[in-house]
Amino acid sequence: MIYEGKAITVKEIEGGIAQLDFDLQGESVNKFNRLTIEELHAATDALKAQKKLKGLVITSSKDSFIVGADINEFTDLFAGSEEDLVANNLRANAIFSAVEDLPFPTVTAINGIALGGGFEMCLATDYRVMAPKAKVGLPEVKLGIFPGFGGTVRLSRLVGVDNAVEWICGGAENRADAALKTGAVDAIVEPAKLVEAAVAIINQCNEGKLDYEARREEKKGKIKLNAMESMMAFEISKAFVGGKAGKNYPAPVEAIKVMQKHAGLTRDKAIEVEAKGFAKMAKTNVAACLVGLFLNDQELKKKAKAWEKEASDVKLAAVLGAGIMGGGIAYQSALKGTPIIMKDINQDGIALGLKEAKKQLTKRVDKGRMNAGQMADVLNSITPTLNYGDFKNVDLVVEAVVENPKVKDAVLCEVEEMTRDDAILTSNTSTISIDLLAKNLKRPENFCGMHFFNPVPMMPLVEVIRGKKTSDRAIATTVAYAKAIGKTPIVVNDCPGFLVNRVLFPYFGGFSGLIRDGADFQKVDKVMEKFGWPMGPAYLLDVVGMDTAKHANDVMAEGFPERMKADYKSAVEVMFENDRYGQKNEKGFYKYELDRKGKQKKVVDEETYKLIEPVVQGKNDFSDEDIIARMMLPLCLETVRCLEDGIVAGPADADMGLIFGIGFPPFRGGALRYIDDMGADMFVELADKFADLGPLYHPTEKLREMARTGEKFFG
Ligand SMILES: NC(=O)c1ccc[n+]([C@@H]2O[C@H](COP(=O)([O-])OP(=O)(O)OC[C@H]3O[C@@H](n4cnc5c(N)ncnc54)[C@H](O)[C@@H]3O)[C@@H](O)[C@H]2O)c1
Repeated sequence: MIYEGKAITVKEIEGGIAQLDFDLQGESVNKFNRLTIEELHAATDALKAQKKLKGLVITSSKDSFIVGADINEFTDLFAGSEEDLVANNLRANAIFSAVEDLPFPTVTAINGIALGGGFEMCLATDYRVMAPKAKVGLPEVKLGIFPGFGGTVRLSRLVGVDNAVEWICGGAENRADAALKTGAVDAIVEPAKLVEAAVAIINQCNEGKLDYEARREEKKGKIKLNAMESMMAFEISKAFVGGKAGKNYPAPVEAIKVMQKHAGLTRDKAIEVEAKGFAKMAKTNVAACLVGLFLNDQELKKKAKAWEKEASDVKLAAVLGAGIMGGGIAYQSALKGTPIIMKDINQDGIALGLKEAKKQLTKRVDKGRMNAGQMADVLNSITPTLNYGDFKNVDLVVEAVVENPKVKDAVLCEVEEMTRDDAILTSNTSTISIDLLAKNLKRPENFCGMHFFNPVPMMPLVEVIRGKKTSDRAIATTVAYAKAIGKTPIVVNDCPGFLVNRVLFPYFGGFSGLIRDGADFQKVDKVMEKFGWPMGPAYLLDVVGMDTAKHANDVMAEGFPERMKADYKSAVEVMFENDRYGQKNEKGFYKYELDRKGKQKKVVDEETYKLIEPVVQGKNDFSDEDIIARMMLPLCLETVRCLEDGIVAGPADADMGLIFGIGFPPFRGGALRYIDDMGADMFVELADKFADLGPLYHPTEKLREMARTGEKFFG
């Protein structure tokens, strides 16, 4: 044994060749936490002290190779000064460079996922062999940073600037064939033969058949481009990547700038440039928010996993109502492998639901993500029906009929009679109280809300809503089913609008107030899109549908009259009264026309301005800051109230719900993180400035207390 630690062991395997194996004790995967980096240092020193070694193979004893850095350590690490971050990166890089400089040939055997720091480890060796199913990549930009263990330096020299830009700025996981094609790895080998293949490469190096030293020098040298080629490669990619990533995500373009800066430098100087650029990105608020988001997501996954343990099996599901939502739910369930019965009361409904599923599947086939046979299998696992024939075999029902409490009540009572006593019933209602719907059920403990978002295949969130009588088993089974069909569930308590709509409608309230006070709806859309929303509020209302929005708004106003009942007629009501329902009938705040590809395109319609004129009080050219404040304050304050009222379990659930449910700008982390970033004191001060606009703008007592004490939602 050459070295034995808790994450790494090094031993001689044959003919003077050593094997350095990653196997982090007590964890299911290898990751670069502090311990692993320290041990890599010690293991490399031990290797250097061996005088007779002829080569090194780096391996992993886990299913994955190394999944990346330990992101749990990032929050503390990134809180340090920029200088500390640079120093920290240079220290870690000295270890990777020491591996690269070992006085014998080195090969990594990539048996499974090697991402981020894990792939940078692979890049430090002279050669890489990779299992067919393994994946490699540098996904750091997804966290608002870029590779910081020499990845921008080594990859750009190994595979060329264009490929390095694509890998680093795209952040994708790459399959073995793609990795081989770009030259990021040298061979694809079956898992059982990886070490053997690595040893063979080392032997060929020692026999003089492969020149590992020349290869190493290439990786440590300057990028081989003349000044003109370099200018072209970097400038073009900066413009392209910058356009795609947008101003709110600076890391991809910074990565290119860093590569451009170190192109003419040799390794150690180049790594200094990378370290400085990395530290600059790690200190951005975007990185803090994206890292926070990752950690929140982990927390939600943990919670879902805990629920899954208590869940009953869902082998067969059913959906009632084959409309827009029912069709989407049936497709999603069938696609992910849970067969589903789709029941409607009329044949047209069924035809519509099947059409929706077919449309989604055809898209997948067109994109090459599925073949015709697989499409047929998925369609065959949707059973359309007009009766309750097979319902005794159903484990979980999603009710998705029209949004009318009387109809839903009748349908739920009917289906309860047709299903087994242990079947779980859920409702995809967007607004109706779960307790109200449970009132006439014989087994209310088996009932909860399961709120999907439109379009179902695209929207990741499902709100699982607990009524007063809902049992843990019902929640657990619904959470597990949501996970099984590829969705992210959050468990919330019952109230009008649950979490997402309760928070979204105050935001629309902010919009209506702005229009009343003379803001231009197009300007509001532009400002909010620049702020980071995928679409501005007027456009979003057109997508949601004015009828749906009006109906939900009425429910919210009834539920929370003190805040949400408006004392003026809103532009949304005007649109609704004039049958301008939005995209669904091609007219809302905007007009919709088909483009050449047959896709709906929004067009400005002067008619809208004429229609809303009677409800607009004067003309006002609000500043961008005022528009943002008037839109964001009600949304954030309602999120705070949801947390205080116990509608959500914690800040992570609330923020993730908004990001996954309504597309809250991810780089801002969520409504509660937005308050944290501004500081509760500044946030309350801003809210007080708009206090005259009514209770939607009034902070809670607890938030005022946080403003005084400096307490944060994410401590
Ligand atoms: N559309 C959305 O954006 C959205 C988003 C989230 C939740 N929801 C909720 O989902 C539910 C359905 O909405 P949708 O937009 O799919 O409506 P939809 O009008 O497109 O579909 C409703 C379907 O239910 C059928 N139906 C009516 N009575 C029935 C009964 N007794 N048994 C079986 N089927 C019956 C109708 O024939 C119709 O096909 C509503 O509660 C709605 O609030 C909708």
